[in-house]
Amino acid sequence: MAVITGLFIFLFLALPAHGEILVSAAPPSYVGYEGCAMCHRDQYADWQKSKHAKVFELLRPGQRVAAKKKAKLDPDKDYTTSIKCLKCHTTGYRETGGYVNFEETPTRAGIGCEMCHGPGSEYRKIHKQKHLGFTREEVSAAGQLYGSVDPQVCTRCHEHEDTPMQPSVDEKYMFNLEERLRITRAYHKHYK
Ligand code: HEC
Ligand code: HEC
Ligand code: HEC
Ligand code: HEC
Repeated sequence: MAVITGLFIFLFLALPAHGEILVSAAPPSYVGYEGCAMCHRDQYADWQKSKHAKVFELLRPGQRVAAKKKAKLDPDKDYTTSIKCLKCHTTGYRETGGYVNFEETPTRAGIGCEMCHGPGSEYRKIHKQKHLGFTREEVSAAGQLYGSVDPQVCTRCHEHEDTPMQPSVDEKYMFNLEERLRITRAYHKHYK
């Protein structure tokens, strides 16, 4: 009987009410840009050329020597395995589905879509099923972020206390959200 009751409860909970989409209660995980590119080709093509996509390379020895020296980093050191750097120079470091190391997860090197839009495993299902019919509330509940309304999306990295590239090191590192949002070559043009 307990089994039957359990089964009943399971079925009841698993059935979407009123045709709503079932978003699993599991915390959203990272799917990588491959999980977005097929539907958002224009943004993907722009992003591939952007600096954010390529920031993993900055951790290699010999890259941006002057900037590293100024920030008291060693320009000859290989920082590609340094836990002090990876959380801002990869996608989803130490999170489910995110960057592990370059051999296992090469497509999570660099700053992918999900570092600005949130880990996509759940909200991408809503995009797929509802197209233009979804609300920002429901996709936000499924983990989607909006950098244009929530400054923290960008300041988790820019001007964050853990970045060596502080405005006190060089004023070019000052982060003004409105100004930076206008530099769309940093991510992608807006197609709507
Ligand atoms: C199966 C197709 C599909 C997939 C996969 C998909 N999306 Fe979407 N997405 C859409 C559609 C359709 C819309 C609504 C039309 C539009 O804004 O382009 C949308 C809208 C968006 C928007 C605008 C939301 C808003 O409120 O204005 C963002 C940002 C976005 N997607 C990012 C992503 C990211 C990041 C991924 C990967 C994690 C992803 N999408 C995966 C189809 C998809
Ligand atoms: C908290 C997030 C964060 C961490 C941790 C972090 N970075 Fe960065 N890094 C940034 C941001 C943001 C920028 C871009 C700053 C800007 O241009 O305004 C940046 C830029 C850089 C640049 C380019 C600077 C230039 O002027 O050309 C290098 C090189 C770099 N980081 C190396 C590192 C190294 C090496 C580490 C680890 C020791 C590291 N970063 C850790 C966020 C971070
Ligand atoms: C550096 C941050 C950043 C990265 C990386 C990024 N985006 Fe965006 N994207 C934004 C911002 C900011 C907006 C404006 C809406 C918002 O606040 O999320 C946006 C808007 C969008 C939209 C809405 C339609 C449009 O063109 O404005 C889609 C779709 C989208 N992004 C998809 C992607 C995909 C797919 C990728 C990866 C291939 C990606 N983005 C990478 C910051 C980023
Ligand atoms: C995961 C960390 C991270 C996040 C999140 C992030 N950035 Fe960045 N951003 C960087 C790093 C690292 C660079 C340095 C790229 C370089 O110098 O090559 C950078 C560079 C930039 C640049 C200069 C690019 C250029 O082409 O000159 C702009 C503009 C920028 N970011 C805007 C934003 C905005 C707006 C957001 C939020 C929507 C954002 N960033 C979110 C890490 C991040």
